[in-house]
Amino acid sequence: MRVKDKSIIVTGAGGGIGEGIAHRLAEEGAQVIVNDIDAAKGEKVAAAIAAKGGKASFFRADVTKSADVKALVEAAVQRHGKLDVMVNNAGWTHRNRPALEVSEEDFDKVYAINMKSIYLATIHAVPAFRANKGGAFINIASTAGLRPRPGLTWYNGSKGAVITTSKSLAAEFGPDNIRVNCINPVFNPDTGLSAEFAGGPVDEARRAKFLATIPLGRFSTALDVANAALYLASDEAAFISGVCIEVDGARCV
Ligand SMILES: NC(=O)c1ccc[n+]([C@@H]2O[C@H](COP(=O)([O-])OP(=O)(O)OC[C@H]3O[C@@H](n4cnc5c(N)ncnc54)[C@H](O)[C@@H]3O)[C@@H](O)[C@H]2O)c1
Repeated sequence: MRVKDKSIIVTGAGGGIGEGIAHRLAEEGAQVIVNDIDAAKGEKVAAAIAAKGGKASFFRADVTKSADVKALVEAAVQRHGKLDVMVNNAGWTHRNRPALEVSEEDFDKVYAINMKSIYLATIHAVPAFRANKGGAFINIASTAGLRPRPGLTWYNGSKGAVITTSKSLAAEFGPDNIRVNCINPVFNPDTGLSAEFAGGPVDEARRAKFLATIPLGRFSTALDVANAALYLASDEAAFISGVCIEVDGARCV
């Protein structure tokens, strides 16, 4: 039990990578708040974890709304008596297309969900972490933030901002015993966002094109990312802060 009794929020855990993270942390003893904007999806994940004997409950919040994120943090403290870890996973992308064809509305949405969410999580979770004499943020960024490619320019930039901001927060909140780390997954074709990243259905041609860029010869899975999150959430990572772990089969070298 590597995170036994830790109180952990996972945002956007109603599907995809966040769902995998919530399951893995609960398997290792965490008390998990499954957050999502979509209540039906989130409640299903929390129920599935509970059915396996894990500790999980759902809390609906939109990570772009300050009052929602405040209530989400309060729910964790109320339900578990403390907050130990916040996994900022909820994310969104504009469809893969030329930079000049992305609407202003889509640009604003990408930055709100991917980046403003980090601001709001920081504002609202840091006081709870301070009350608990420490804590950890795990921000799900992307290989896109390190090795950008055409077609996802505004998404790439938002993830670059997540990476730089996480490092800055690690420096600023180290004296509070608050760790801030990122995980950079490479493409995962099994999530809700995959067709958006790929610019259409993930057919054989698109799979082959992506796969050719990954030396280990496969895509990432939610479990790959969840295992990295488990390490960063655990006390094994007590001296690890300000880093990004690429979960990418060497895509970024
Ligand atoms: N799938 C990939 O290839 C890949 C690669 C690198 C990074 N990522 C990142 O991983 C994270 C998870 O993405 P995924 O691929 O699992 O996508 P997904 O669409 O399967 O899951 C994202 C979840 O976030 C929820 N969500 C969206 N907006 C929200 C909001 N405002 N408030 C709360 N919840 C909200 C959605 O309802 C959904 O359940 C994202 O940050 C994404 O950028 C994904």
